[in-house]
Amino acid sequence: MSRKRVGILISGRGSNMQALIEAAKAPDYPAEIVGVFSNRAAAPGLAIAASHGIATASLAQSKFPSRDMFEDVMTQTLESWDVDIVCFAGFMRILGNDFIDHWLGRMINIHPSLLPLYKGLHPHQQALDAGAVEHGCSVHFVTHGMDEGPVILQAKVPILPGDDAETLAARTLIAEHRLYPEALRMLASGEITAP
Ligand code: GRF
Repeated sequence: MSRKRVGILISGRGSNMQALIEAAKAPDYPAEIVGVFSNRAAAPGLAIAASHGIATASLAQSKFPSRDMFEDVMTQTLESWDVDIVCFAGFMRILGNDFIDHWLGRMINIHPSLLPLYKGLHPHQQALDAGAVEHGCSVHFVTHGMDEGPVILQAKVPILPGDDAETLAARTLIAEHRLYPEALRMLASGEITAP
């Protein structure tokens, strides 16, 4: 079995990244995690990746004269790792057209809502404010619109009396850690392809 080479983009904690790294340790998993890139050098996930022997890189956009130049270097970094698939895992930047066009169909993201509901920031609070009784998470292809690409898989969690954004986020995160490895497995194995 030839395993797909995966690069992960993070900005922070990296718990979804860690779930992907753990899943990829199974000998029959169709993907291997070959590199983790962060736009924040202080992202705790970088040290976790390094502790698993995975290549890491971090670059701040502020060090570049333009967003396009920063994103060109991101693409070069991912290509230096010979990446087939890019997984966004809490990567807190909106990317420009050149980057998206380059990786279109090979790039997936996890968002903590039942898309198309509650795109963008603070999705848990958005769900609570809407009076929703259920919430969840989605893995989707990344396209030009934020949180808009075709959904691959979703998982639901209940909203319980007394929930606040923090308790709901914690319950949703447990579902995220199961969902993301399964969605990556489907893409890496060829069970699904970009529409
Ligand atoms: C997760 O809830 C993810 O769905 C969202 O940002 C959060 C990142 O958490 N996009 P972590 O860095 O994976 O722990």
